[in-house]
Amino acid sequence: MDLFEAIKGRRSIRRFKPDQVHKSVISEIIEAASWSPSFLDHQNWYFAVLTGKEKERLYTFLKERFEQILQAMEEELSERVKTITSQFLVASGRAPVVIAVFSEISSATSPNAITSVAAAIQNLLLAAHSKGLGACWTSGVIYVSEDVGNFLSILDKELVALITLGYPDENPNPLPRKRDKIEWRGFDD
Ligand SMILES: Cc1cc2nc3c(=O)[nH]c(=O)nc-3n(C[C@H](O)[C@H](O)[C@H](O)COP(=O)(O)O)c2cc1C
Repeated sequence: MDLFEAIKGRRSIRRFKPDQVHKSVISEIIEAASWSPSFLDHQNWYFAVLTGKEKERLYTFLKERFEQILQAMEEELSERVKTITSQFLVASGRAPVVIAVFSEISSATSPNAITSVAAAIQNLLLAAHSKGLGACWTSGVIYVSEDVGNFLSILDKELVALITLGYPDENPNPLPRKRDKIEWRGFDD
């Protein structure tokens, strides 16, 4: 797949077919994530890949924390985003795979820690799309990141996102991109 085609064609997918994703394919897309740039080449990303009963256990736990997440988001998010996120958290339990993405370096220690992991996540999303998979970057869990870390027994890393992954069961239209986000200086034309 052409790179620009992948960049423009990737969408956040929130409905998945039940088909399982083979471990080797997940391995390939995580390998692609590891080719991201990172601050001082720290390569500080860490991926916990859950499926089957392990994934179900995590989502049961998240549903219990659900109210807490929404309350934590209360001031930060619009009603629309809260509704979308709450619907998503319930529905995403149906994704066959969820990848918990951590930073091995705390954001309190280095603000660049999270941006490096974010670069890796984008590589992962594009690689997933190029393999015919759908994924969604979800962030609500960072409000209960310590709880999730405890639940997964990953105590020495900082949770950055949960990525849901599976074969897409929807083909959403792209949201229009905002323009006027660039200014040109020193060009002749
Ligand atoms: C940092 C970050 C956090 C996000 N968190 C959520 C989330 O919690 N729930 C969700 O449904 N989508 C989430 N998204 C996906 C965005 O809603 C989505 O990227 C945006 O609406 C544009 O749609 P597109 O990805 O299809 O281009 C998140 C994306 C980013 C980059």
